[in-house]
Amino acid sequence: MAKRTVRDLPDLKGTRVFVRADFNVPLEDGRITDDTRIRATLPTLDYLVKAGARLAVASHLGRPKKGPEPALSLKPVAAQLQDLLGGSVAMAPDCVGPEVRKMAEDLRDGDVLILENVRFHKEEEENDPRFAARLVADTMATVFVNDAFGTAHRAHASTEGVSHHVQRSVAGFLMEKELRYLGMARDAPDHPYVAVLGGAKVSDKIEVIEHLLPKVDALLVGGGMAYTFLRAEGLVTGKSLVEEDKVELARRLLEKAGPKLRLPMDHVVAAAFKEDAERRTLPVDQIPNDWMGLDIGPTTISAYADQVRPAKLVFWNGPMGVFEMKPFAEGTLAMARALAESGGTSIVGGGDSVAAVTRMGLADKIDHVSTGGGASLEFLGGAELPGVACLEDA
Ligand code: 3PG
Repeated sequence: MAKRTVRDLPDLKGTRVFVRADFNVPLEDGRITDDTRIRATLPTLDYLVKAGARLAVASHLGRPKKGPEPALSLKPVAAQLQDLLGGSVAMAPDCVGPEVRKMAEDLRDGDVLILENVRFHKEEEENDPRFAARLVADTMATVFVNDAFGTAHRAHASTEGVSHHVQRSVAGFLMEKELRYLGMARDAPDHPYVAVLGGAKVSDKIEVIEHLLPKVDALLVGGGMAYTFLRAEGLVTGKSLVEEDKVELARRLLEKAGPKLRLPMDHVVAAAFKEDAERRTLPVDQIPNDWMGLDIGPTTISAYADQVRPAKLVFWNGPMGVFEMKPFAEGTLAMARALAESGGTSIVGGGDSVAAVTRMGLADKIDHVSTGGGASLEFLGGAELPGVACLEDA
């Protein structure tokens, strides 16, 4: 179901808007190492600022468990936004309370106030209705704009609860774009439609596999999760990652999928889980007893790429191997290249596959690089995301 967006809000001048963004960015020693998520929200913030709205922008950062943690402050994000957005960007000491109220009162048209990490209050993740009401009251907001697709699978106070305390709740431009592309992958794909799924565990992907199988023309499996399927086919997998309790499920999925579900034909195996470990490229039915498979091999790469390139729609989530180690990165990097070369619509979701595409400088050759890892998987698995469900239908 399409959602109303900021475009549907008439005359924003002077309107107090509570924006939920997903500024959960990687930090090293207080420095932002990848600001993709911040940049992705700029179209929405810029639009609201130019329209003269008065913004209070909320986000979480990390998973603080015991109240405020200085290392998880959103201050570096506010500084970055000041550079990117220009204008007046202020940082609040908290996300609720008298000081926030005062700073909200002082906002003028087009001003931006960044609230401190909402997860510094345990009520955020509990979706406590009184806390949600305080977020709205202290920022004086009458409108909720949710642009935090990456957190839309969480029913938290700032992602869902606030919608019950404002007059209007709509999507930002990033949220709109995510729903459009991922909605295409979930509900109305062009064919041939190829899904490429990797990553360590089958258990993380069960719903997505079940949901996508009837829709895709091919589902290409790589990464650690391939070994649970290979074991289900009766192969010896050495010390490769196998989820023993999911082998039976993998067998059922293989039966249901038939030839649509493709498994690696060859792999790069290593004597240890180490970058400099002794390694060999072998067919998947060959692996020395105490060795482990850490990447897909060249025959698989070329077969998978041959399916991806001519596809009208490709969705990719999860690395094909241990791509943080150079000798086992080729499968993942080759998939990134194949998607970039594909003539159809390409969508990449999930941290590691997004990192691979970005690392190769190919992000601008992909039609949609999702800012949601867990959220995109839950969405494609058929779940209704609370942070989306609470927005007005178009
Ligand atoms: C993410 O990085 O996937 C989102 O920001 C959600 O974060 P969470 O898994 O800590 O809720």
